[in-house]
Amino acid sequence: MPAISASAPGKIILIGEHAVVYGKPAIAVPVSQVMAKALVTPNITAESGSVWVQAPDIGMDDSLSELPKDNAIAKAITLVFAELGVSRPPSFKLRVTAGIPKAAGMGSGASVSVAIIRAVSGFLGSVLPDETVSDIAFQVEKIHHGTPSGIDNTVVTYQKPVYFVSGQPLELLSIPKPFYLVIGNTGISSSTAAAVGDVRKAWEADKETYEAIFTEVGEIATQARGLIEGGEPEGLGPLMDQNHELLIEMGVSSPELNVLVGAARNSGSLGAKLSGAGRGGNMIALVQKENTVNVAEALMAAGAINTISTLIGHLGELK
Ligand code: PMV
Repeated sequence: MPAISASAPGKIILIGEHAVVYGKPAIAVPVSQVMAKALVTPNITAESGSVWVQAPDIGMDDSLSELPKDNAIAKAITLVFAELGVSRPPSFKLRVTAGIPKAAGMGSGASVSVAIIRAVSGFLGSVLPDETVSDIAFQVEKIHHGTPSGIDNTVVTYQKPVYFVSGQPLELLSIPKPFYLVIGNTGISSSTAAAVGDVRKAWEADKETYEAIFTEVGEIATQARGLIEGGEPEGLGPLMDQNHELLIEMGVSSPELNVLVGAARNSGSLGAKLSGAGRGGNMIALVQKENTVNVAEALMAAGAINTISTLIGHLGELK
């Protein structure tokens, strides 16, 4: 059996995080400058059915049988076995590297899952349809936090910009006019589960206020879709600013995120917001091409640990 490798991109949420957990629409786009990779190689010397997992980023070097059942990597592998009806696989070694900052709102968990699902199923001789890959990654996401919307596994599986509503058929976005984003990393790792859990508590305590915020965010996502598909992406700036204010109201921003968002706005970006679960992780700024370097430098000066400039749309992406 030949070795099989697979990779999956990171992602950012352009509009609509958190509200998407409550059934509102959101827009997410893949970011292929950061990739998770999985490599499966046959392990002919090991006894049949033995699976060895190496994930150097998290110091994992274990037999699958020794990993807890609720470990995300173990779960991704065993769900593929279940999907393919494999009870005793040919022995193999899986090596996973997540070239995506963890707990930073860039979908590292979903990317790692999708890369593993594709590499393991490929090694076992099957090409799973995207829908199945996304479904399995969604099951794994539930380990990371109890009530995932499904947006991360969807955008990472399809590797295309998506307009996403939980439980509804997938809608890919067409982007007639590509646009530039600068992503700034606060360097602060933040737990998606904790942020989502806190928003849930706050929503339970004051449903009226939170429902109103979520509805407003959903409307912003719908307007954003119209601008993107209508070839007017510059108009996204004010919508991103409004979305950031609503995320502050939800209680998921942080001083560091607000500083970076402010720095982006002061250095000529068209709009900026946190992206992902918040509390840390990344923010994004919409920029004109000629301003990409300026904004990236302003973010670094304001405390970002790194930035990524990316072109969203059919012309590909920047390094
Ligand atoms: O921080 P991330 O990349 O896991 O994104 C979380 C997005 C949320 O809307 C906060 C949660 C979800 O499941 O959609």
